Amino acid sequence: MTAPAPRRDLRVRDLRVQIGDRRILDGVSLDVPSGERLGVIGASGSGKSMLALALLGLTPSGAEVRGSIRLGATELVGQPDRERARSRGSGLGIVFQEPGTALDPLRRVGAQIVEPLRRSGASRTDARAGAIRLAASVGLPEPGRLLRQYPHQLSGGQRQRICIAIALAGDPDVIVADEPTTALDVTTQARILERFQTATAERGQGLLFVTHDLAVLAQVADTAVVLDRGQVVETGPVTRLLTAPQHRATAALVEAARATARMVRT
Ligand SMILES: Nc1ncnc2c1ncn2[C@@H]1O[C@H](COP(=O)(O)OP(=O)(O)OP(=O)(O)O)[C@@H](O)[C@H]1O
Ligand SMILES: [Mg+2]
Repeated sequence: MTAPAPRRDLRVRDLRVQIGDRRILDGVSLDVPSGERLGVIGASGSGKSMLALALLGLTPSGAEVRGSIRLGATELVGQPDRERARSRGSGLGIVFQEPGTALDPLRRVGAQIVEPLRRSGASRTDARAGAIRLAASVGLPEPGRLLRQYPHQLSGGQRQRICIAIALAGDPDVIVADEPTTALDVTTQARILERFQTATAERGQGLLFVTHDLAVLAQVADTAVVLDRGQVVETGPVTRLLTAPQHRATAALVEAARATARMVRT
């Protein structure tokens, strides 16, 4: 096996995002060291997706972004768009919450996985083989046939896995995944979570994983931050957050998950 490439850590300090007079993120600080998996949880509307977009430099137009996002030695906040775009995919890769809008509807999905592989120097043949391997590794059936399809010919869960394969194809230092398994059944979900573990454990990539599902959180991350109205209100080992939450926002998430589990049992 080849040794993993040296990876850059992600370090976020006092990140603020404001749209008009609304402060959407309010002083977020977090770290994703190489090879580690950080979970981000929080109620709907707490700012999880905005955080993911801000990290990638994809906030909506009119949004003001302040604070610091460092990837290794490079400061990303304030970087010219063109440079920022260049580091997308290889520096930071993203899996969006809505797989439908993330794919180019007019291009076959295979070509969309091949592109980042080609960009990192693979020959046409190698990139094609790599795309099939990646598609198989995220549990897509008959990848050879499936990769010739257009996005609208696939199911939502298949599209979601194509998006994961595209993010992995760029071999980024840090993968930002925003609820990447919501459209998947539990078996497929488990396989994807394992695939992310491989990316971090064997390839040294960092993972920032947004989820509202505490069972998924416990499977995928060792440490997590809790967002509440744009602020990090609690950070710590996942087991501690789930068993002894300190902040009422964390306690509310844990209680809601328990209530759901009780409903399932009765
Ligand atoms: N394009 C936008 N313009 C203005 N406000 C926005 C925009 N996108 C999101 N917001 C606001 O930012 C806040 C955070 O939204 P965000 O999508 O980050 O929440 P979330 O934690 O990802 O929620 P969910 O769990 O439902 O996905 C919300 O109050 C939302 O209304
Ligand atoms: Mg969201």
